[in-house]
Amino acid sequence: SQPLRLGIAGLGTVGVGVVKIIRRHADLLETRTGRRIEISAVCARDRNRDRGVSLSGYDWEDNPVALAVREDVDVLVELMGGSDGPAKAATEAALAAGKDVVTANKAMLAVHGQTLAEQAEASGRSIRYEAAVAGGIPCIKALTEGLAGNEITRVMGVMNGTCNYILTRMEAEGLGYNALFEEAGRLGYLEADPTLDVGGIDAAHKLAILAAIAFGTRPNFDGVEIEGIEHIELEDIRQAADMGFRIKLLGVAQRTARGLEQRMQPCLVPAESPLGQLEGGTNMVVIEGDSVEQIVLRGPGAGEGPTASAVMGDICDLARGIRLPVFGQPAAMLKELPPARTGLP
Ligand code: NAP
Ligand code: HSE
Repeated sequence: SQPLRLGIAGLGTVGVGVVKIIRRHADLLETRTGRRIEISAVCARDRNRDRGVSLSGYDWEDNPVALAVREDVDVLVELMGGSDGPAKAATEAALAAGKDVVTANKAMLAVHGQTLAEQAEASGRSIRYEAAVAGGIPCIKALTEGLAGNEITRVMGVMNGTCNYILTRMEAEGLGYNALFEEAGRLGYLEADPTLDVGGIDAAHKLAILAAIAFGTRPNFDGVEIEGIEHIELEDIRQAADMGFRIKLLGVAQRTARGLEQRMQPCLVPAESPLGQLEGGTNMVVIEGDSVEQIVLRGPGAGEGPTASAVMGDICDLARGIRLPVFGQPAAMLKELPPARTGLP
């Protein structure tokens, strides 16, 4: 059979992780999918940087759009980030040229998911984005596939590794916010603009994506009520601990009589509860459905290996010929529910 040929745009934390897996597991991936997975070309801003992985055998493109439309590329793997700009331009170009897209870009999908889903469906192509929500946890697959027989009643969880890392390390080490911020950067957790992490915006992007799949609605990032962790101080964490609680940046999305409620905010959770026991960059996604009742998915939410693992799962699905509607049902059938704002306490 023909190989599946990739063009990888972005060679940062996630892109390098994907290249490493493809180089390490070429035979395993072929055995599992029945097709050789090959990299035709790669693209980043700085051609001369040593990225700690061999790029020999791959063509280099300076322009992500040129990469996306190459004849020897079947799948654009978009790992640059940003809701607009080169990520969106390359994604649109790839779909228009009849390529599938795999991305880890939650900002782009939360903001432009509806139009991109419509474009993908019109061109008979697919956008896969398991890595966009909760890093290595396959929660998109769980919602779109395994739980497809349920009416989903609620999705919630801890969806930003950086914030959980900072909050738990502050408590354990008594270290200040800035020192931990640098550590999270070294671990590859931070967004290119880290205010998206600590401001709760990155987690809100993820919640908007989960809510769209769960409730069959158009992704509505503007409808998420957001409060970040920037104002949480060591003293707040200590007082919470004295009372048997921990502070978590918690997201909740549920349908109410007034519309779709989507909240992302720091919450007190009992220290002994599953949510309370999440350490470091770990995430947890809780999904409730009428038949399954509740499932809890827990795992690494950020960083090179876990995120690249999720990207590879999507690439393997495409190698197997699996294409699904972007948000689990045809884009034209996604409803617009009014946001049910709570005014956040
Ligand atoms: P990163 O380390 O900042 O890497 C971004 C890469 O994109 C860099 O290689 C950069 O090139 C390249 N790039 C940026 N603008 C470009 C342009 N105009 N043209 C060509 N290349 C360009 O980011 P990351 O952490 O890997 O994240 C990538 C995506 O995955 C983002 O959407 C992020 O939200 C998402 N994600 C990240 C994680 C994580 O744990 N890091 C987890 C889940 C999802 P240079 O290297 O030359 O500067
Ligand atoms: N910056 C994100 C986080 C990366 O810390 O969770 C994973 O999406």
